[in-house]
Amino acid sequence: MSHRSGRHFLQIPGPTNVPDRVLRAIDRATVDHRGPEFGPMTLEILQGLRAVFQTKQPVIIFPASGTGAWEAALVNTLSPGDRVLMCETGHFASLWQKMAGKLGLAVELIPTDWRRGADPAAVESKLKEDGARSIKAVCVVHNETSTGVTSRVAAVRKAIDAAGHPALYMVDTISSLASIDYRHDEWGVDVTVAGSQKGLMLPPGLSFNAVSEKARKASQSAKLPRSYWNWDEMLANNKTGYFPYTPATNLLYGLHEALKMLQEEGLPNVFARHARHAEATRRAVRAWGLEILCAVPEEYSNTLTTVIMPAGHDADRLRKTILDAYDMSLGTGLGKLAGKVFRIGHLGDFNDLALAGTLAGVEMGLALAGVPHKKGGVLAAFEHLTESARAPSRKVA
Ligand SMILES: Cc1ncc(COP(=O)(O)O)c(C=O)c1O
Repeated sequence: MSHRSGRHFLQIPGPTNVPDRVLRAIDRATVDHRGPEFGPMTLEILQGLRAVFQTKQPVIIFPASGTGAWEAALVNTLSPGDRVLMCETGHFASLWQKMAGKLGLAVELIPTDWRRGADPAAVESKLKEDGARSIKAVCVVHNETSTGVTSRVAAVRKAIDAAGHPALYMVDTISSLASIDYRHDEWGVDVTVAGSQKGLMLPPGLSFNAVSEKARKASQSAKLPRSYWNWDEMLANNKTGYFPYTPATNLLYGLHEALKMLQEEGLPNVFARHARHAEATRRAVRAWGLEILCAVPEEYSNTLTTVIMPAGHDADRLRKTILDAYDMSLGTGLGKLAGKVFRIGHLGDFNDLALAGTLAGVEMGLALAGVPHKKGGVLAAFEHLTESARAPSRKVA
């Protein structure tokens, strides 16, 4: 491998580009995680996290990838054989469903064509059919990273309420938190699952559960075996800013800094920035004459755009051409979408010129790889960016 000058463009939908401020924060001596300086930092982090999850409830931090937080959500609240209603919106929803099966839960699946989000009406009718109230949890992936579709979490909450059903509500926000508006308390979510490597602008390695009082109550009688993932010991130790086992000290330094950055920008500005970049990207894709996988405009994702390749053209060949020629990584097609789509990540530490470079790389790559398309996608995106430009707001929200 020879050296490549300039910065690599990491435009997969997570892990995202880690900003220099976060890298510098991580690059410090590891301290005693039971010592006097550690507790106060953790308490600040936990407070900052609650603001990002838009909750007053506790947020638990695990030294684990997002998959760990999925498992923690299930094993803390459920018992062997419990029925769980899951919406199969794409690859990640399928993986969560497979995990639930492996843990001994009875999964009830609402399938989709992977081009739309969870259907609130279908959730409502499944719950209404459950007269015995044997469904114990409804699980939804807020932003399906394999498809670029954002489910309507508040509408699913309304559906659960309309059915008058007591099931817990669990939502995966791994590729939406700190990028797309998400409200743990207002939307009545019992367990929110999140990860460090996307909107939070950190390397992979931390994951989170925000937990409602109802979820904590359920955990008192839940019978699935758990030890590492047990909320109780975490919550008891977190009260003073400590952990029951060794936390990922240096990633927590990074998280402390990332939360400051999000607070400085202001969450509403963070959401608006992601929405604007997503719209510019979609305009580029349409101008190229290519199709966006998400079939429902109100469910377009603001963190990534999944693009369908013209028939007979392999998405991974295009991705390789772009990586080789322009040093940019784009997301591959996952599961049944392998080879058929590529994904443009536009989330995390990102700005107009980073998006301009990203879209320029895709447009040049389409030409270089001989993929049929029209010119002008980049210009269409630029038009949106300039039309919608406003002075960047750095106010604290
Ligand atoms: C929506 C979603 N859920 C779950 C996961 C799994 O997380 P991890 O790979 O960090 O274990 C991912 C990973 O990208 C994801 O995007």
